[in-house]
Amino acid sequence: MVIAVLQGSTRSERMGDRAAKWVVAQLEKRGYEAVLVDAAALKLPLLDKMWKEIKDDTSAANAELHAKLAPLAELYARTDGYVVVSAEYNHSAPPALTNLIDYFLEEYAFRPSAIVCYSVSPYGGVRAAMQLRALLPEVGLPTIPSLQPIPSIGSALSAEGVALNQEMAEKSGKFWSEFDWYVKTMKAGREQGVPY
Ligand SMILES: Cc1cc2nc3c(=O)[nH]c(=O)nc-3n(C[C@H](O)[C@H](O)[C@H](O)COP(=O)(O)O)c2cc1C
Repeated sequence: MVIAVLQGSTRSERMGDRAAKWVVAQLEKRGYEAVLVDAAALKLPLLDKMWKEIKDDTSAANAELHAKLAPLAELYARTDGYVVVSAEYNHSAPPALTNLIDYFLEEYAFRPSAIVCYSVSPYGGVRAAMQLRALLPEVGLPTIPSLQPIPSIGSALSAEGVALNQEMAEKSGKFWSEFDWYVKTMKAGREQGVPY
């Protein structure tokens, strides 16, 4: 099964790589194909047209955007769940993350999402996560009940995404088991048919 890992921090000195690497490793350990979707690498412009508005448009005007979004559309078509890795900027989710999410809609339908939030403070980005709890179900990605906050990320994860404390090394099992259950259950449900 395939999980898309959305990373929305674009700062050149970002901590988000630590969280994204940790997430990918956790998913691979559980047998998933984890595919990182990095807003910094994609460099999507602020939203003008959604994928559905340009997917059949082969004009030169949208060629660059088309080339960036087409592989994402292909990935999302085979994706069984999403892990959204979010920093907290002014108690909100980073704008590049919501911009990345906004390009698509129907592609997400009937898949679960899980939020891994982080910050340099002891609060671990949970205020951004609460905003994502409103956004993600709206686009068709209901969030699992548990959150995975990463407080004080600089001392919680190494630059390679390796746990540096007991909390990160041993305490995320319930979060991942829960996500696993939702991914498998919703996949089985989609195979039975979806309401619309
Ligand atoms: C614009 C901006 C706003 C921030 N606001 C918050 C905040 O509201 N709460 C918090 O705990 N940390 C905040 N921080 C500090 C971040 O937790 C810290 O910079 C973190 O490394 C951001 O993730 P990134 O490095 O992946 O971009 C903010 C950082 C930036 C750049």
